[in-house]
Amino acid sequence: MAFRLGRLRGEMPRDVAEYTSSLKFDREIYGEVIVINAVHLKLLARLGHLSGDALTRGLAALREAYDNPLEMEDPSLEDVHMVVEDYLVKTVPEAGENLALGKSRNDSVATAIRMRAKSWALTLMESSLGLVEALLVRAYGEAETVYPATTHQQTAAPATFGFTLTHYASRLLSALGSLAKAYEELDQCPQGAAACCGSTLPIDRRWLAEQLGFKRVLEHALDASSSRDFAVDILSAVLKLLVVVSDMAEWLIHDFTLGLLDMGDEFCSTSSIMPQKRNPVVLEVARTKVSEALGEVVRVSSMIQRRVGGYVLDLQQVTPSIWRLLGEAESTMRVLSKLVGTLSVDAEAALKRCGMEAGMVELANYLTLKYGVGFRRAHRVCGRIARMLAEGSLTEEALWRVFEEEGIPAKLTLEEVSKILDPRTIVSNYATLGSANPSEVRRMVEEMGRRVEELRTWVSEKRRVLEAVVEKTFNAQAL
Ligand code: ARG
Repeated sequence: MAFRLGRLRGEMPRDVAEYTSSLKFDREIYGEVIVINAVHLKLLARLGHLSGDALTRGLAALREAYDNPLEMEDPSLEDVHMVVEDYLVKTVPEAGENLALGKSRNDSVATAIRMRAKSWALTLMESSLGLVEALLVRAYGEAETVYPATTHQQTAAPATFGFTLTHYASRLLSALGSLAKAYEELDQCPQGAAACCGSTLPIDRRWLAEQLGFKRVLEHALDASSSRDFAVDILSAVLKLLVVVSDMAEWLIHDFTLGLLDMGDEFCSTSSIMPQKRNPVVLEVARTKVSEALGEVVRVSSMIQRRVGGYVLDLQQVTPSIWRLLGEAESTMRVLSKLVGTLSVDAEAALKRCGMEAGMVELANYLTLKYGVGFRRAHRVCGRIARMLAEGSLTEEALWRVFEEEGIPAKLTLEEVSKILDPRTIVSNYATLGSANPSEVRRMVEEMGRRVEELRTWVSEKRRVLEAVVEKTFNAQAL
């Protein structure tokens, strides 16, 4: 590559050039790099360093390359930035020759990555909202279906299937809030910072940011050109999303195995040898995604925490993690949205799984409220009843003996006790905000549905800004 040969005596051997080149993963930012260069030509024209005619031809050449992507096979060109410059030098020399005037690959690549990551973040947001919506739809329909809630993986209290599903929707919405914050972090424009300390050319960085669809300028030139901290933000937000997804996948696999719930055959595979198998493979893969996310967050953080000063090529090696994780997360959300639509519950099995013991807290509450027995004593009594239940020795006599020994003036029949312990009654008696009471679950579904709509509006507003950039970039009149 010609730009080497001033300072350096020769070319790199091909395998060495391949080793250090980013061309293998630059395809991802190809469109953004073209747009940045087109805007740079406009900047040069505004500064009087490019004629109107050369600008028009330069923009047309870049539009052509935008629509028909250039080859990126020659590692001696190092990266997409040099591929574009090489092309423009050959097609419109007056424009190509000055493409690096007041512009560095360092600010350009940071800008391109942020632009592409913003677009990915919106796509991921849309797919994730699809998953939240699928959960909310199923939850509304199953708001009354009694289902066990567990703590320590043991039945803890009666809830409903809808309540359990909305728990994941609630957590996903929180993670999407973090994703939106990470987007705001991305939405700062490094362009015009040049290699590390700014430029002596009077570059209007606010104009550049606006042309490139950014909300604001990332002012500090060294931060703008040489940091990838924003990658930690976006990847951490994705990690948070995938923590919830993996958690949900684990629960679904667990309860599928117990026979409490089922999913469509199209999300299962079978064994090539054991014909009876129905394996929840989609969820098994989804469950691993958090590990990939964790790997990428660690990979990126450790690569960027050992820099002295400005740009080093270590930063280049960070980039693939961003595309890998955003891509994996997006397909995970898309596939799971479909799977959630096929979930069904075995209502009888779920009710049975709740059993009587799931309501023990309510029996203790009842004894305290009705007989004025302190809760701690009522708790002990109910513990003894639960033990008898577990051992199969609960009779009316045994029950009354316990009451008598504990000094509780209750003469409850077994039938009365089992009514108090009935999971359906308990669920419909929950009285607190955010409880598993079906009417509360439906209210929360509606509330979360409104949040989904807000986020959808947010996505389409941001999307419109990004689309407008491409529309006006190649128009030489829009200076
Ligand atoms: N290809 C590099 C990257 O992806 C940008 C080039 C920066 N190279 C340089 N020598 N400063 O980060």
